[in-house]
Amino acid sequence: MIARRLVAVLFLPFLFCGCAQEAGSMAGTTGKDPIVVGFSQVGAESEWRVANTESMKAALSEENGYELFFDDARNMQENQIRAMRNFIQQDVDYIVFSPRVETGWDSILQEAKEAEIPVIVIDRGIVAADDSLYRAYIGSDFREEGEKAVKWLEDILEKQERTGEDIRIVHIQGTLGSSAQISRTGALEQAIQRNANWRMIEQECGDFTRAKTYEVMGAILKRTKDIDVVYCENDGEALGAIDAMEEAGLKCNPEDGVIVVSFDATKKGLEYCFEGRIALNVECNPLQGPYVDEIIKKLSRGEQVERKKFVDETLFDFYTITKGMIEKRGY
Ligand code: AHR
Repeated sequence: MIARRLVAVLFLPFLFCGCAQEAGSMAGTTGKDPIVVGFSQVGAESEWRVANTESMKAALSEENGYELFFDDARNMQENQIRAMRNFIQQDVDYIVFSPRVETGWDSILQEAKEAEIPVIVIDRGIVAADDSLYRAYIGSDFREEGEKAVKWLEDILEKQERTGEDIRIVHIQGTLGSSAQISRTGALEQAIQRNANWRMIEQECGDFTRAKTYEVMGAILKRTKDIDVVYCENDGEALGAIDAMEEAGLKCNPEDGVIVVSFDATKKGLEYCFEGRIALNVECNPLQGPYVDEIIKKLSRGEQVERKKFVDETLFDFYTITKGMIEKRGY
């Protein structure tokens, strides 16, 4: 551990300029060696992601016994792989990463395994050739989130007695190939198979951002304004789609307008839900730092950890959301 600390303090400042100060500031300030963690974050594409980064930094803090090397991959898998390789070269104690997409991680994980550095996957899941390539996964059950969304949609359309009419759905997907996209998309596509009156009229990628979705939704609206439901795979996309629809004169409301479905339930997303502009917001919980801290502390004590853990999540809709729920939201 001491050798690792020495190497990290000597070389990491040159590789991760943004965290050089954090790295140096730990040296010699406590009697105990900190646990050195390299965290590769996928990017800063959404409010959710920012909250996730903050949760990780707060949990893996100096006061909590850590030395954290943080790298923002700017939504590029090759940047994540490069950061992880740097972490391996610096011989950190643990690598944590939030994978942009599900596949393509086997080689770098094999390198970490050969270097005997345990890897913890957070947020999005991966498909690995061999389960021993990472020690634990903590994140969201994205399929369950998608199932909650389509079940709510089925129920509301039934209550509105619209089972006999065509329901025209626009689908805005998240980053293609990410487990969040694959699972939320899977739930919708399966629901379309079982509901004969549901029609997918447009399917485009919004890459989990408000700006890109505003653009793609604007293009869709030039083709058609006859839309019943917009299923967005996060709050950023929902906000971008609503911007475009309202500009085009469409009302977003489950009672007498377009039904917008979203995921995340950030504070902004909940405010939109209170107004009905988002009809349903399925929670995706970004506060994963404390779970990662617990896993690392357990592994450091040589204890067993759960291999796969899903964080607790709920849902909010226009009909039941209260101001109190929004006020409680910290992000
Ligand atoms: O992987 C979690 C998803 O990624 C969140 O829904 C989204 O906001 C984020 O960018």
